Amino acid sequence: MYLGLDLGTSGIKAMLVDENFATIGVAHAGLTVSRPHPGWSEQAPADWITASEQVIGELARQHPQAMARLRAIGLSGHMHGATLLDAADNVLRPCILWNDGRSGPQCAELTARADFHGIAGNLVMAGFTAPKLLWVAENEPQIFEKTAKVLLPKDYLRLWLTGEHVAEMSDAAGTLWLDVARRDWSDELLAATGLSRAQMPALVEGSDVSGSLRADLAERWGVPRVPVAGGGGDNAATACGMGVMTPGTGFLSLGTSGVLFAATESYAPNTGDAVHTFCHAVPATWHQMGVILSATDSMTWLSEITGRPVPELAALVSETVATPSPVSFLPYLSGERTPLNDPDATGAFFGLRRAHGLPDLAQAVMEGVAMAFTDCIHALRKAGTPIEAAYAVGGGARSRAWLRIMASATGLRLLEPEDGDFGAAFGAAKLAAACATGDTSERVFAKPAVRAEVVPDAALADAYAKKYEAYRAAYPRLRDLPG
Ligand code: XUL
Repeated sequence: MYLGLDLGTSGIKAMLVDENFATIGVAHAGLTVSRPHPGWSEQAPADWITASEQVIGELARQHPQAMARLRAIGLSGHMHGATLLDAADNVLRPCILWNDGRSGPQCAELTARADFHGIAGNLVMAGFTAPKLLWVAENEPQIFEKTAKVLLPKDYLRLWLTGEHVAEMSDAAGTLWLDVARRDWSDELLAATGLSRAQMPALVEGSDVSGSLRADLAERWGVPRVPVAGGGGDNAATACGMGVMTPGTGFLSLGTSGVLFAATESYAPNTGDAVHTFCHAVPATWHQMGVILSATDSMTWLSEITGRPVPELAALVSETVATPSPVSFLPYLSGERTPLNDPDATGAFFGLRRAHGLPDLAQAVMEGVAMAFTDCIHALRKAGTPIEAAYAVGGGARSRAWLRIMASATGLRLLEPEDGDFGAAFGAAKLAAACATGDTSERVFAKPAVRAEVVPDAALADAYAKKYEAYRAAYPRLRDLPG
């Protein structure tokens, strides 16, 4: 038995699988995001532990015999968050999340101080960890001075589970302090942020052992003192769950954030168009991603302001959608990463008329997100990583209408995996299996069977190609308009 624990932005999920990766049990607990100022996005790390206790406790109560046969735990989590700890491991302030744009001004400063592009292989972007620490140094110097360790969100859960300060390569690559080619911390990049290696956790590969489960927790849950695997950032972990370990078919994730992911055989950075280049969660592999900050979060926002649940809004758009919405939408509600790298970009509806209603807006939101993914396809292509087909995962992939829009706008063949749960928690469970067995081959990281393919519709694709031109033209025009 293997347990995968995924710390998502909107909730935590624990998944127990057997030796053949069949699901034994799944438990969820919700999490909220606090936005104390426009552009800020934070969570209290204590809430992650409460939610983890809840989900693992639930699995322990419902599946005591299976839990007693647990062999390893794997972790996954939302990336880039800055969890700041003092010398006694107390949390110093709420964690600043991946979609927090406050550190825009610090990015230019860091870029000028050291070769982040060359060593970390990525643009210095506001959601990444390093500029957040410079923001803290400048705005909360008393907290910066007390910072003894900086942990990524899932690595804070590891500290709770094992008592160890450990990170793994895929998530560490998103801090901007990792030498991504050498898979080691860069003293130069740390120094440029006023930090040193002593404030960093130890590094392991995602499929390696990072520590053992604490005796008191093992006793409470009725499990052996199993190893906890390094695990992966949520995107690398999702890739592990879908067997996306080599170039070829990638994945497209319609979660809170939107991700277009491709595995690469070597470290091949291309910072143009804000392509992300990170380590994969198994040794000697890397990956590239286009990341958009508000994918299903755009639909969640529309749901919140209209008071209509997301499934109801999604159902307003026909599964056989044949013509574009007359309304257009820019999904930059939390700024944007790929390709704009602009934390101050804002969202917009345009083309509105008196006759338009909520179905037009719901479809426009789906299309705006699809256009943002089209930007990601172009960015990865320019970086030398073409993608023709991708597994479709994440909550938004449950909407057939959205997948049809997505395939037609992006030109991608979207592959729907057979029934099953192929998210980050599943990938974390697979990394646990790799850690317990030493097997990182495709026997563990197998590709799922495909239930259906959603292919571009030619007429819709033509219409979306025109709509994409208007989409591309809108951002530079709207950028300088005061809100
Ligand atoms: C990736 C990114 C998001 C988060 C949240 O760079 O910021 O995908 O990992 O899921």
